[in-house]
Amino acid sequence: MKNEEGNVIKWKEEYSVGIRQVDEQHKRLFDLTNRLIKARKDPAGRESLRVFLSELMDYTHYHFQAEEVLFGHLPTARYHKAEHAQFIESLKGLTAGFLREERNLDSRLLSFLVTWLRDHILKTDKRTFKHGPVVREAGKGASPESSDSCPWAVPAACFILNTQKKRKGI
Ligand SMILES: [Fe+2]
Repeated sequence: MKNEEGNVIKWKEEYSVGIRQVDEQHKRLFDLTNRLIKARKDPAGRESLRVFLSELMDYTHYHFQAEEVLFGHLPTARYHKAEHAQFIESLKGLTAGFLREERNLDSRLLSFLVTWLRDHILKTDKRTFKHGPVVREAGKGASPESSDSCPWAVPAACFILNTQKKRKGI
């Protein structure tokens, strides 16, 4: 399952959806998934896995919202959004399993992520973004953090901070 770099999943050109912003976010999701391997080997395993789950939840929320801004006007948006919602539900289920200290949670999480990322990107995302310029133009200027001021160079950082603030009710 692993490649020569010890990664379970490696981004390749065939995963490109033709929009740089989306490709970069997918690469980050691949990196996060590969980090799970290291978290599993970490002596402080449980804490690493907890941090991983929290980061993964925050980043997927950010990424899905960024995609939805781009394709929200398309007739297929409903189905695509439903797949995103299903992913979040599955991740919540796995997180609940982690809190209940279920066995083999890390292996189940890893296989879920690898399978979902490959299937979703190669089928749903590529089909959605195949008319890249049309999708990009419609979503121009919009981003998940556009309703909040973002002073940082990395917009994902603002989104994650705002999400955490909302969770804490700040
Ligand atoms: Fe998607």
